[in-house]
Amino acid sequence: MEFQEVVRRRRMVRSFEDRPIPADLVRRILANAPRAPSAGYSQGFSFIVFDGKPEVARFWEVTDPERRSGWSDLYNAPLVVVPCSEKDAYIDRYARPDKGWTDRSETHWPVPYWDIDTAMAAMVVLLTAVDLGLGALFFGIFRTTEFKQAFGVPERVTPIGAIAVGWPRATDRPSPSLKIVGRRPRTEVIHRGRWEQRG
Ligand SMILES: Cc1cc2nc3c(=O)[nH]c(=O)nc-3n(C[C@H](O)[C@H](O)[C@H](O)COP(=O)(O)O)c2cc1C
Repeated sequence: MEFQEVVRRRRMVRSFEDRPIPADLVRRILANAPRAPSAGYSQGFSFIVFDGKPEVARFWEVTDPERRSGWSDLYNAPLVVVPCSEKDAYIDRYARPDKGWTDRSETHWPVPYWDIDTAMAAMVVLLTAVDLGLGALFFGIFRTTEFKQAFGVPERVTPIGAIAVGWPRATDRPSPSLKIVGRRPRTEVIHRGRWEQRG
C-alpha cells in the first residue's frame, strides 16, 4: 500500500472478525516493531506477544476478566501485542562514555524517552497492520500489576498499553470520541515559527 494511503486509512479498529492472521503477516508486524527510532539507540522497548486464540484468551482473562470494554468483537482479535518500556536501558546507555551521564540521574531527560520510543514502536505496529490490510487498536491496560504478575514481567519493565490486531469487521466504525470532540483543524494544531502563528 502506498504510504500516504496507510496514514490516511489508519484509525483504531474495535470490531474484528473471528479469523486468524496468517503467520507470515504476524512475522512482518513483529519484524517491523523494533525498527522504531530510539534515543541513543537505547532500544528500551520489548513486546509481549499473544498469538492465537488460547494465548489471547489468557491475556483477556487477566486484563479484562469481565469483558467490560463495551466492544464485544474486540475480543475476536487473534493477536495482541503489548509494547513495554524499560527506563534502565536509557539510564545504562546514557551512562556510557559517548553520552557521559555517569551520575545516572533521571533528571537529564526532558520527557521520558523510554515511553516515547515504545510509543513510536507501537505506531509502527499500527501502521504495519494497516499496510497488511489488517486493523488495530491501541488501548490501555488498567490491571498492570496483575498483568505483570501473570506474565512474568520484571519489575523494571512497564507495559505502556496493548495493541489488538485483526481483520476489521465491515461494520466497524470510527472512534466514538471523533463524534464527541471532532478532529482539530490544522490551523489549531500547526504553529508556524511561533505559538501564535497558526496554520
Ligand atoms: C495512549 C492511547 C490510549 C488509548 N486508549 C484507548 C482505550 O483504552 N480504549 C479505546 O477504545 N481506545 C483507546 N485509544 C484510541 C483513541 O480513542 C483513538 O486513537 C482516538 O479516538 C483517535 O481515533 P483514531 O485513532 O481512530 O483516529 C487510545 C489511544 C492512545 C493513543
